[in-house]
Amino acid sequence: MNNDIKISAITSPLMGEVIIPSDKSISHRAIILGSLTGGKLKISNFSKGKDPISTLEIFKNLGLEVSFIDDKTLFINSKNGLTAPSIPLDCGNSGTTMRLMTGLLSGQKFNSELFGDVSLSKRPMKRIIEPLTLMGAKIESNENKAPLKIKGSKLNGITYESKIASAQVKSSILLAGFNSVGETKVIEPSLSRNHTEIMLQYFEADIKTGKIEDEFYTTIRSSFLIPKDVYIPGDISSAAFFMVAAAITKNSDIIIKNVGLNETRTGIIDVMKNMNVDFEILDEKITNGEKIGDVRVKYSPNLKGTEIKGDIIPRLIDEIPVICVLAGFAEGKTIIKDASDLKNKESDRIKCTADELKKMGINIEAADDGFIIEGNGQKQIEGNAELNTYNDHRLAMSFYVAGLRAKSECLIKDFIWVNTSFPEFLGLFNKLGV
Ligand code: S3P
Repeated sequence: MNNDIKISAITSPLMGEVIIPSDKSISHRAIILGSLTGGKLKISNFSKGKDPISTLEIFKNLGLEVSFIDDKTLFINSKNGLTAPSIPLDCGNSGTTMRLMTGLLSGQKFNSELFGDVSLSKRPMKRIIEPLTLMGAKIESNENKAPLKIKGSKLNGITYESKIASAQVKSSILLAGFNSVGETKVIEPSLSRNHTEIMLQYFEADIKTGKIEDEFYTTIRSSFLIPKDVYIPGDISSAAFFMVAAAITKNSDIIIKNVGLNETRTGIIDVMKNMNVDFEILDEKITNGEKIGDVRVKYSPNLKGTEIKGDIIPRLIDEIPVICVLAGFAEGKTIIKDASDLKNKESDRIKCTADELKKMGINIEAADDGFIIEGNGQKQIEGNAELNTYNDHRLAMSFYVAGLRAKSECLIKDFIWVNTSFPEFLGLFNKLGV
């Protein structure tokens, strides 16, 4: 595939069904948490995105037995535990890999080193180094950034009150807590995605979750786990691009099958409701503790602006760039607040989203902790822009969706970043008629 692509308005509606590929967050956790069970388990519908593959490759270097049955089904066997890696471990572009692995590796009997690509090497690691150090971890960093040199140490449980609602921080501490003496408690201001807790509960770990007043807590203690097979649901963060594309493309009517609908991830569904998107959820069920369903979305001529802030932010953190696109086609103003952590994602998603969508003709302003978008009431945008993707897969895909309503052609540079989470992206859009 050429690294760049051109995109302009489509003339026909999006029609038909797509099966959405598997959830990136849960794919990472299936390998990481599966490796703690000391047994053999099957993982079905594993993500082919580069990020989960980075995690898998790291575990091969840590001695995990991995055998693929087909390209999405694999067995892992952790009966021999983890062993010292002979090389530094490459996390690629994946913040989840680096942050969760630091928690896991801090409590091992061996030393290790984690590094990442240019984008990951700029992202803040203090948020995990600080709590892990309080637990007894010995981590050397480049001024709180990668590469991270980890000296395996004996850890002690702590109670840690995180200032940010971050599943990566929470999960990193829980993984260290699993290898610690005593109990570890993590408190967060809003509930971030809880896939780690759900999967550990499924493996019958000694883990509890709850809410006291306005704070959410999780406690964990070291315990034996029961290996069980895991099915990975489809990724709502990938489905989001199709939901928005159908809502803004005249006469569209699509069904997105197999979407993970865990409530810590469905902020975008609440926003779609508030913005008058015409959608319904079909065929809900639960698989290994995670809710799954199909989402039908139709062209939505009466989109209206909304306000997005507070506790909902962690429930839609990765969908904000494409929600900005949706807001660009709504009637009236959309305000997004309390999302300053977007600056610490694969790119500075506040500045980069605003800069590039503005070039396409969307009326968007960056704020310190979010955006103000004045929608155009479902009119076409100008397009005619050359868009930078800043090493960020979600920006590349959001610009593509906006481009479907652009009068003049846009060039999306380095679109190939899509492979970080969603190599099937263009193929699925083609299937729907693009
Ligand atoms: C993730 C958590 C989120 C999210 C990221 C994946 C995870 O990050 O943005 O894409 O799998 O735990 P934070 O928890 O740091 O907000």
